[in-house]
Amino acid sequence: MITKIAPSILSADFSVMGETVAKLEKCGADLIHCDVMDGTFVEPITFGGQMIKNIRPLTKLPLDAHLMIEHPKTQVKFFAEAGADIITVHYKACAKISDTYLEETLRLIKSYGVKCGAVVNPDVPVENIFPVFPLCDMVLLMSVYPGYGGQKFIPEVMEKIKTARQYAIKCGRPDMDIEIDGGVTLENAKAIREAGANVLVAGSAVFNSPDWTDTISKMKL
Ligand code: DX5
Ligand code: ZN
Repeated sequence: MITKIAPSILSADFSVMGETVAKLEKCGADLIHCDVMDGTFVEPITFGGQMIKNIRPLTKLPLDAHLMIEHPKTQVKFFAEAGADIITVHYKACAKISDTYLEETLRLIKSYGVKCGAVVNPDVPVENIFPVFPLCDMVLLMSVYPGYGGQKFIPEVMEKIKTARQYAIKCGRPDMDIEIDGGVTLENAKAIREAGANVLVAGSAVFNSPDWTDTISKMKL
């Protein structure tokens, strides 16, 4: 499978976001990963739909909105209308509301013609989202606890990647996007890909590197 690199703008300088997004496209990024945090589901607050709306005209790359927020269903409209290409929502935020909330939210995202995905934290079995695999364009496995960039990859997640890919194959979706988020580096990218992930989020690994083009291309090797 072709590997896609999704630099996370959480690690960017927010005062020059427009230039940064344009530069990421030139440097070979495949998606722009937009970390949306509400100060409740996770401690920090980042940005809302306005950021998506403002960067939308500045790049042709898909905008990957990772919603680390409570009550995600109430926010889908704003991110869809702002121009997100894919919206992912956390299993944990949905499961605390009701057993059907995750599925309802995914269906709502799709009703806008936007791709959708479910996210599991490192301590949530990937099996918990098996029932929504048929609805998902992508599944996102967190390899750190969400909230901050620059954390270390949790190695136990490697097995979950294999389980997720095997189940995607079993569902007749061998090419399903499986995204890994947190602590992806030049050192571990190959093992993560070999385990079955094809979309790698990279925040600090790209932004702290002197040559973004070089880093992005090496992550695909
Ligand atoms: C963490 C975010 C990640 C983060 C990744 O809550 O969802 O997208 O920016 O950053 P790195 O690649 O530095 O771990
Ligand atoms: Zn993220």
